[in-house]
Amino acid sequence: MITIVPKPTDSAGDNSTSMVTEELTKAGAAYRFINLDTIDPFSNPCSDELIWVCGLRQDDHQFEIINALSVDNHVINSPESIFTCASKVKTSALLQKKGIRTPETLFTASSEMAGHFIEQHGRVVYKPVYGYDGNGIFLINSLGELGKGPYYLQEYVANDCDYRIFVINGRSVGAIVRRSDSLAHNIHQGGIGIPCMIDNDMDEMAGEAAMAVGVDYGGVDLLKDREGYTVLEVNGTPNWHCMSAPIPKLLAEYLITKERQSRC
Ligand SMILES: Nc1ncnc2c1ncn2[C@@H]1O[C@H](COP(=O)(O)OP(=O)(O)OP(=O)(O)O)[C@@H](O)[C@H]1O
Ligand SMILES: [Mg+2]
Repeated sequence: MITIVPKPTDSAGDNSTSMVTEELTKAGAAYRFINLDTIDPFSNPCSDELIWVCGLRQDDHQFEIINALSVDNHVINSPESIFTCASKVKTSALLQKKGIRTPETLFTASSEMAGHFIEQHGRVVYKPVYGYDGNGIFLINSLGELGKGPYYLQEYVANDCDYRIFVINGRSVGAIVRRSDSLAHNIHQGGIGIPCMIDNDMDEMAGEAAMAVGVDYGGVDLLKDREGYTVLEVNGTPNWHCMSAPIPKLLAEYLITKERQSRC
């Protein structure tokens, strides 16, 4: 039995959870849903089960419930990796430790250090530490444009598009190129995504990034400059908007395999 935490943002026209459950049904796999808002994690609601977190509200309650359930169950993606992906700071630290190319980044509470970083790079990208969907991302030219710290600042990588690669078990299985008229090319910011080829560098880098943050599957965001690809971040509960690859089927197959393994 696969236990599923549905994506809180699912809607009638955009339902990630049901896209995967339809594939599980076709494959004859048994599954059920749990509601993190009403479950009591201390009354053994489930044990030795495979729990698939399609999505999680970014709040302490949902995160801690999943954390507690992971004591007795195998959770995909693991709570640790979902939390790592939610934090741009932890993600940057891991990418750097593993030697994976990523734009030069500063995280500081010091406006003096932030000012120095901006002078050094001319213009930088400010991002909220727990941001998503391209929200709250700005191009900054001077210290005066920044509000109160702390500051997560990144070297601006000139581009006219970015890439989202879907990785399952270290393998790149789908990719899109996203374009928009704004700084952030996210679909939620009006970006248009078009399926693209996965070249060898993209494949290797996305796989390494996903492994660095410890996800079973994830959405890796890349930019490209003259020297090649650079990793921005990994999403631990990614969607597969605009992908032509059969992501729901591949994800269902992966979950079925993991569920079988967890029973052996
Ligand atoms: N250093 C950078 N230089 C140029 N553009 C950038 C840079 N960092 C981010 N961007 C643009 O902003 C977009 C969003 O950035 P990023 O993926 O880091 O944040 P996000 O809000 O967390 O997005 P997600 O919804 O994928 O979690 C990128 O996909 C890219 O288009
Ligand atoms: Mg992103």
